[in-house]
Amino acid sequence: MKPETTSQWKALSVLASKQGDTEPEQLKPLTVDAAGLHADLTKQQLTPEVLAALIALAGEMGLPEAIEAQFDGAVINHSEDRPALHTALRAPPDQMPEVAREAAGVLQKVLELAEAVRGGSWRGATGAAITDVVHIGIGGSHLGPELAVESLRQPHTGGPRIHFVANIDGAALGDALAGLNPERTLFVIVSKSFSTLETRVNAESARRWFLERNGDAAFIARHFIAISTNLQAAAAFGIPDTNVYPMWDWVGGRYSVWSPVGIPLALALGRQGFLEFLAGGRAMDEHFRGTALEQNLPVLMALAGIWNYNFLGVTNQAILPYAERLRLLPDFLQQLIMESNGKSVHQDGSDVSVHTMPVVWGGRGTNGQHAYHQLLHQGTRSFAADFILVAEGAPPAEHHRWLNANALAQSQAMLLGAGDENPHRRVRGGKPTTTLVLPALTPASLGALIALYEQVVFCQGVIWDINSFDQWGVELGKRLAIPIFEQLGGRSALSQDGSTRGLIEYLTTKD
Ligand code: F6P
Repeated sequence: MKPETTSQWKALSVLASKQGDTEPEQLKPLTVDAAGLHADLTKQQLTPEVLAALIALAGEMGLPEAIEAQFDGAVINHSEDRPALHTALRAPPDQMPEVAREAAGVLQKVLELAEAVRGGSWRGATGAAITDVVHIGIGGSHLGPELAVESLRQPHTGGPRIHFVANIDGAALGDALAGLNPERTLFVIVSKSFSTLETRVNAESARRWFLERNGDAAFIARHFIAISTNLQAAAAFGIPDTNVYPMWDWVGGRYSVWSPVGIPLALALGRQGFLEFLAGGRAMDEHFRGTALEQNLPVLMALAGIWNYNFLGVTNQAILPYAERLRLLPDFLQQLIMESNGKSVHQDGSDVSVHTMPVVWGGRGTNGQHAYHQLLHQGTRSFAADFILVAEGAPPAEHHRWLNANALAQSQAMLLGAGDENPHRRVRGGKPTTTLVLPALTPASLGALIALYEQVVFCQGVIWDINSFDQWGVELGKRLAIPIFEQLGGRSALSQDGSTRGLIEYLTTKD
């Protein structure tokens, strides 16, 4: 069903046309506690009337039934004819849908491998312990694992150093390999398809680097592992079956950090840490599945977004973590949200006629306050922002208190603004923000946070009636790059548009 045909969409349009700036005193407290996270949506422009209409819209669009269909493993990714069952990866084994049963056994193997590397019983071919892991993967095979490791690794958590290589720019691999001892290095090649250009080329270069230094191809078995659905391609690359951990087509790349793709987190934290991460995600799922829409955090955040983007003209969504260790959260959420809900056709293929997801961007506080917050306070474009705070943060306490004081001050300024006789100093306010508070940055709270956003994306996809689980739009650029690569190497006739032809000529004559 097209959302704009529902009675509630029409009701919301009327409410939006009547709504001026909500006075701060009109805002009723709207807070929810879920899976250990505390959320304050009071600063959203959600009057009780608007909220009631949004909840009714969710009902009209079939959200409660869609939630069950997701967890039950129904085929909800219609364009690829498959379920989206990442929730099964963090579910208790006895509640896993049949199709996902194999995942529990694979998880045990991944955790055993991580413990063996951490404990030194997995050794390189010459008997040396592994000190460095080079993780090669891109997109969903990179962003979640790197976010998790960078957020949770601490000096006392031990484990090998982990280097992430995603970009095909040789500088990425070169920087990661600089100074590494091949005898002590383990390569983890992560690619659901095992055909992604960047990962394939980086993995081949890594193998070359390794063999040039270690000589013996038999050593690959102790220094390369792979995570993929494409077991044949991994084998063709030279990685023995015993070193290949499966992925499944029912887990989308950007939803895969819970699968063997999350192996860097297991390497960084060990078995217990990874299990706690899964438990955090599971707790959020239980909240999502078991809570009425009115008190359901993913649902409320999704509905606040729909109100902002579709009725209040909000054109972008900022993600503002006030936690240094969460600095990669905006990058991760950009893929999760924009690859999922950057769509312009409905499930049945017809064109959408309302806006879907706007651009998501962000960066860590407080740094952003001294860079782009000027535009947020006084620019002409409207935006919405999520502030992510940690109650018990890194010491010293004075730093942490200043950090949180700044986060609260920024969202307060965005809400209240400030009058001034001097127009250059005036701040308008009235900007919708949500504040999420993690009790502390732990595996469980990060798991809950990631699962929260996954389910926000899901709810918005249901309301827009789009497929949040495919990403066909990325294919065109991949296809176009192939002939351009040939032409940059001077190997075939130029047949591009004028601009591209000119740039190819410029680049090839500069070589
Ligand atoms: O190009 C987009 C994409 O397909 C993402 O959806 C995916 O996470 C990424 O590339 C990496 O894909 P793979 O894991 O198959 O290498």
